[in-house]
Amino acid sequence: MILRAVPIGVGHYLPARIVPNAEFEQSLDTSDEWIRTRSGIERRRFAAEDETTSQLAIHAARAALADAGIGAGDIDGVIVATSTPDLTFPSVATMVQSGLGMERGFAFDVQAVCAGFIYALSTANAMIMAGQAERLLVIGAETFSRIMDWSDRSTCVLFGDGAGALILEAQPGSGANTDRGILSVDLNSDGRYRDMLYVDGGVSTTGSAGKLRMQGNALFRQAVEKLAATAETALGKIGLAGQDVDWVVPHQANIRIIQGTAKKLNLPMERVVVTVQDHGNTSAASIPLALSVAVAEGRIRRGDLILSEAIGGGLAWGAVVLRW
Ligand code: UT7
Repeated sequence: MILRAVPIGVGHYLPARIVPNAEFEQSLDTSDEWIRTRSGIERRRFAAEDETTSQLAIHAARAALADAGIGAGDIDGVIVATSTPDLTFPSVATMVQSGLGMERGFAFDVQAVCAGFIYALSTANAMIMAGQAERLLVIGAETFSRIMDWSDRSTCVLFGDGAGALILEAQPGSGANTDRGILSVDLNSDGRYRDMLYVDGGVSTTGSAGKLRMQGNALFRQAVEKLAATAETALGKIGLAGQDVDWVVPHQANIRIIQGTAKKLNLPMERVVVTVQDHGNTSAASIPLALSVAVAEGRIRRGDLILSEAIGGGLAWGAVVLRW
């Protein structure tokens, strides 16, 4: 008998303001057609001026708690994946903790940019398997609109804001790949690629938050290769392959990256959850957002084998295989 980190609730929150591609045509030399065909994005949400990452995270957390049918007092720890915290410190996770009225447990943030939710799931899984926590609230939450350079058409049309939350519970498993819960994880990073996607400010350099800079085309070329490789590694560790997967819930950066990766894994697009058209790239929030949408639509069902993969700044990338 081993302990498995089994999903018992999922939820998400999107800020109210919907921004269609056409809105960028007024201020930039761009078009709805270019954004759609190059990225698959049709619209995204932007947080209101006074709406923070922790507020988005708290809404998503409440939805996940309601879905699980438990209260905040039943949670042992909160892990938030984000690169756009409200403040340099304390962590967004502690703000979520107090926002939910939690008076016990622990809370911390994980920063692995667009791969953040994969890293957070990996951390939560290790803690649950080690018996350190029984129930963990794992959140991806971002306000990337705050780090956009609105004069840079090659980046500002691609990102959006939002939050998704997943609750994992320690449950006994057999150790076989037929168990429910997280079955396999593969994490990677390579700091030699740090200039491909970064923010040009920070605490110990400029003292300001900075703006996002990206060599989109160079990153694109890395993405499909690395995502397919990490997915195959994660599946291979438990004796599975692409054809065993019921649903791919990928990071939502670009429809062409999602399609290219699915093709390499021999998976038809019918088995891929795609939300990039509605959310844009929400960095660490994109996977839990997509997961929550697919569960709410009744597509993902108990027992389904799910593969999630993501790549982003660092570069950092990885994959998680879990049975719903
Ligand atoms: O989530 C973290 C990971 N991020 C990613 O995985 C993003 C990876 N990259 C991408 O998704 C794509 O590279 C982009 C969507 C960013 C760009 O697509 P692309 O097919 O790689 O285009 P490109 O960068 O090669 O640019 C093609 C052309 C350029 O013009 P020239 O030099 O060929 O004349 C750009 O200046 O498109 C131009 N361009 C635009 N045109 C209209 C760039 N941005 C825009 C724009 N509107 N918004």
